[in-house]
Amino acid sequence: MSKRRVLTGIKPTGSPHLGNYVGAIKPAIAASRDANVDSYFFLADYHALISCQKPLDVQRSTLEIAATWLALGLDPERVMFYRQSDIPEIPELTWLLTCVTGKGLLNRAHAYKAAVDANAAEGVDVDAGISAGLYMYPVLMAADILMFNAHAVPVGKDQVQHIEIARDLGQRFNHIYGGDHFVLPEAQVDENTATLAGLDGRKMSKSYDNTIRLWDEPAVMRKLVMSIVTNSLLPGVPKNPDESHVFSIYQAFATPAETAAMRKAYQDGISWGDAKQALFERIDRDLAPARERYRHYMTNPNEVEALLLRGAERAREESRPFIARLRDAVGLRSLASGVARPVHGNLDSRLELSGSGTMTADLQKMSPPELKQYRDSDGQFYFKLAEKSAGVLAQSIGFANGKDAGATIARIKRGEGAIANGELVLDGAAVAYVPDMVDPADASLALDVLVRLEAEALAKKQAQA
Ligand code: TRP
Repeated sequence: MSKRRVLTGIKPTGSPHLGNYVGAIKPAIAASRDANVDSYFFLADYHALISCQKPLDVQRSTLEIAATWLALGLDPERVMFYRQSDIPEIPELTWLLTCVTGKGLLNRAHAYKAAVDANAAEGVDVDAGISAGLYMYPVLMAADILMFNAHAVPVGKDQVQHIEIARDLGQRFNHIYGGDHFVLPEAQVDENTATLAGLDGRKMSKSYDNTIRLWDEPAVMRKLVMSIVTNSLLPGVPKNPDESHVFSIYQAFATPAETAAMRKAYQDGISWGDAKQALFERIDRDLAPARERYRHYMTNPNEVEALLLRGAERAREESRPFIARLRDAVGLRSLASGVARPVHGNLDSRLELSGSGTMTADLQKMSPPELKQYRDSDGQFYFKLAEKSAGVLAQSIGFANGKDAGATIARIKRGEGAIANGELVLDGAAVAYVPDMVDPADASLALDVLVRLEAEALAKKQAQA
């Protein structure tokens, strides 16, 4: 059995800080040592272009981030470590996915929506200052993930929607082009990893300007640690460790035994000066050996470059044949061979071919859409429009009795319903809703197919009678 694949993208913008280290880098490197996983780590430099248009900053940050991960113990022999822009198959896949992406799906992506909402609040054009790059962010990210068929993607909560979109696009591509081309990835949100407090006690984040940078000189780091906010309890007065950011940061670095000892010191009234000094020393103990390695990579960028290029070569051993298969699947094929292969795959073409006796194996594998009635635990009656690989395409409102639900289903099957604005409408009223993550165009297509298959079946029955 092949191993579980875990993939992580790191956007090279800015300099890494302690929050990145504790919340992402340290746990990811530890996880990559697990013999049961195949880890993929890459620098998402195409993504960086969306928010940074300073070439020197992009280059500098790419080096800093690569040097950081290497210095902190990422083993490029053991894991796949590469730079996104060294894999031309990724932008190629991005386009294939773009063509199966509902525009409406991207309209609903959080980052884009937030930018639109901010514009609306300011009273300017809703798309002012928003690049198509930001709009396409989720598709590029889906290509990163699907290209290497990752099972799991460790992310923060803010990225979960992106993984859902990647799943959705992978599923849609599999569905349209018939086949298990892509593994459908899952977000892996670790509830246990600490969110580190920053200097002001809020979450440590570049956007709050409250960070302690990972590779600042020890003297600078010490000064910053000394500036972390505390209450004004005097030395000798017992302090509550659970209300102290100094303590919570200490805990993120220390072993359980060290943490227990520090907890006691707080209760015994350690001074804030001593507590902060202890914190600084504990952080420095973790970082000192890595700091030397970091300096080495920063002063020998050729070494980093060579490692990344080698990583890309290894990654492309997978991405090259895979993109060839995907190109073939969508019909980007040599004209010199087998031109007469049937065009097949989507619901429309299946419909055209159904009954004509020319269905291909792929088509036979796909299942017709269904409209199924059921009773839920609330005692009400419902129905769903579903298709095997696409899943639920519309979910009905509740009906007090089964007869009403059944009559509604019958009318929809006769073609009286229509999908409009994400609703399945009958007599001008919504009787079912298209789920958020589903492209209404798919629901509409499935409804069409359902109605036409029903009509065909009816005609056949009448002919027999
Ligand atoms: N969007 C991610 C972030 O901002 C970075 C990223 C790009 C990524 N592609 C990815 C993360 C693929 C995981 C998988 O942090």
